Amino acid sequence: MDSDREIGPIILLGPPGAGKGTQAKIIAKRYGIPQISTGDILRDNVARSTELGLQAKAIMGRGELVPDNLVCDMVASRLRDADCERGFILDGFPRTAAQAGWLDAFLEREVYKGKEHCGVPIVISLKVDYNEILRRLAGRRSCPTCGRIYNANSNPAHVRGVCDNDGSQLIVRKDDQEDVVRERLRVYENQTRPVIDHYREKDRLYEVDGLRDVEEVAQKINDVVAQATVAVRKGAPS
Ligand code: AP5
Ligand code: MG
Repeated sequence: MDSDREIGPIILLGPPGAGKGTQAKIIAKRYGIPQISTGDILRDNVARSTELGLQAKAIMGRGELVPDNLVCDMVASRLRDADCERGFILDGFPRTAAQAGWLDAFLEREVYKGKEHCGVPIVISLKVDYNEILRRLAGRRSCPTCGRIYNANSNPAHVRGVCDNDGSQLIVRKDDQEDVVRERLRVYENQTRPVIDHYREKDRLYEVDGLRDVEEVAQKINDVVAQATVAVRKGAPS
C-alpha cells in the first residue's frame, strides 16, 4: 500500500456498469484512501429507512437522480471525516453540472485551503459501450455485507450466490432490471455527460478504456494517477 503521500482527490466518472465501483475499491486498497460512492451511501440510507433514504428510495427505483441539494449535503458531511484527509475517491459524484460546480467550490473552500500543493482533482472517465453495459449489469451480483462486486458471467463467486469474503448471500441490485437500466443510461446521457465536458474544458479529464480486463483498467488508472500527481507537484497549471 502506498500510504505516505496525499493523493487526488480522484473522481471516477462513467456510465452505469462502467466499473467505477470495481476500480474504486482497487484504488482505495492501493493508496489507503476511502471510496466514497454516493450510490452506496444512498442505498445504505434506504436500507436503514433514514429520512434521506425515505426521500431517495422511489427516485432510485426509477433510475432517476436524487436532488442535488440532498446529495451535496451528504457528500459534504462525508468529506469532512478524518479519513479523507490524505485524499479520497469519488465514485458516482458529481453527476450533474450543478454538482460539479458545487464540488469545485467545496474543494477550494475546505479541502485545498492551507495545503502546500494546490491540488486539482484527477478526473478519470471510464469508457464502455452500451451493449457491454447491459451485459455487465445483467450479471452483476453484490455482497450486502462487505460490498464486494461480482459478475455471474465474468467474475463469479467460488460458490454460486455466496460471498467469498464473508459467506453472505449475494444480491441483485433492484435498479439492475433492464427497464431501469435503460432509464439510468438515458439520465446519464442527459445529465452526466455535461460533467465530462466540464472537466474536459478545464483540461483535467483522463479517458480510460473500460472495456479491458479489470486488471488492465486498474493498471491504466495507476499510470494516470502517478502521471497526474507528478504534474501537480511540479506546479503544473490546472
Ligand atoms: P450508483 O450506485 O452510482 O450506480 P451507477 O452510476 O449507475 O453505476 P453502477 O454502480 O451501476 O456501476 P459501476 O460503474 O460502479 O460498475 P461496477 O464496478 O459495479 O447510483 C445508483 C443510483 O443512486 C442512481 O441511479 C441515482 O438514483 C442515485 N445516485 C447516486 N449518485 C448520485 C448523485 N451523485 N446524484 C444523484 N443521484 C445519485 O461493475 C458493474 C459490473 O461489471 C459488475 O458485475 C462487475 O463485476 C463487472 N465489471 C466491472 N469492471 C469490469 C471489466 N473491466 N470487465 C468485465 N466486467 C467488469
Ligand atoms: Mg457502482
